[in-house]
Amino acid sequence: MGYPTERPRRLRRTPAMRRLVAETTVEPRELVLPLFVREDAAEPQPIASMPGVVQHNRDSLRKVAVEATTAGVGGLMLFGIPAHKDATGSGAVDPDGILNQAIRDVVAEVGGDTVVMADLCLDEFTDHGHCGVLTPDGSVDNDATLRIYAEMAVAQAEAGVHTVGPSGMMDGQVGAIREGLDRAGFADVAILAYAAKYASAFFGPFREAVDSSLRGDRKTYQQDPANALEALREARLDVEEGADVVMVKPALGYLDILAAVRDTVDVPVAAYNVSGEYSMVEAAAAAGWINREAAIMETLTSIRRAGASFILTYWATEVAQSLGR
Ligand code: PBG
Repeated sequence: MGYPTERPRRLRRTPAMRRLVAETTVEPRELVLPLFVREDAAEPQPIASMPGVVQHNRDSLRKVAVEATTAGVGGLMLFGIPAHKDATGSGAVDPDGILNQAIRDVVAEVGGDTVVMADLCLDEFTDHGHCGVLTPDGSVDNDATLRIYAEMAVAQAEAGVHTVGPSGMMDGQVGAIREGLDRAGFADVAILAYAAKYASAFFGPFREAVDSSLRGDRKTYQQDPANALEALREARLDVEEGADVVMVKPALGYLDILAAVRDTVDVPVAAYNVSGEYSMVEAAAAAGWINREAAIMETLTSIRRAGASFILTYWATEVAQSLGR
């Protein structure tokens, strides 16, 4: 019998050999922690659908920002939950709005040691829950929304943000934000563009996390899960409009998209390991159905292997701490 002719198992024989030949790393700097801050929270509020994740108040936000930075995470992505919402999301452009205050706090605390990013979208701030303002007939008004995004970007830049993360999937949003920032003297503020963001059921727990007011769906602006070419077009447009990093979201169901985008652009590509991906693992682990730590590392390794330079994940601090040990 002439088989086997080759023995790939030689490279898997010992932990030391496996470590030597591993092709993919997961390092603290490759992880970005999303954080929620709520305007009227006296105490941090648990999020039932995301066990272990909370809506912070300004004090607890500062503390976890320090904890994450000490663990070596690459960045923080801030989301604000205002006490009052209105039709145009005016809390988003108010310098004293909760998200802008949180940016100031976090930049003052850890701004020298990590990258402070903020979600740039209106959905947390509008009473109808859409990512943009509405026309009289109730559809999302793309171009009117762009003007507000540009204003929101400047407000975040004035608060000291290093990177803005436009996540609303409006056409031309990256270009409009770049132009707004440059005109206001913020040429150095980077744009992490949610380039290929799908209308996904895996954002479900996030909607609770931000007390979303949305009824209906976002299918007129977020992408159809059936489409891949469209993601390449969105990524190309964002790079042409000035995106410094493009992101694919969600991650796990879209690793093919991530790999394809990685092959077509010449900027870093990020991926968002979203709320539903987090909650599935946490729920299965709580039921005793899965090895939690192994599932987390396999999740993050898979996303890195598919081509992500860095990953937004609710496990960022925990994993960074365990890697540092
Ligand atoms: C929109 C936004 C969403 C998420 C990040 N930014 C929700 C949405 O588009 O409905 C989802 C993140 C997650 O599910 O973890 N501001």
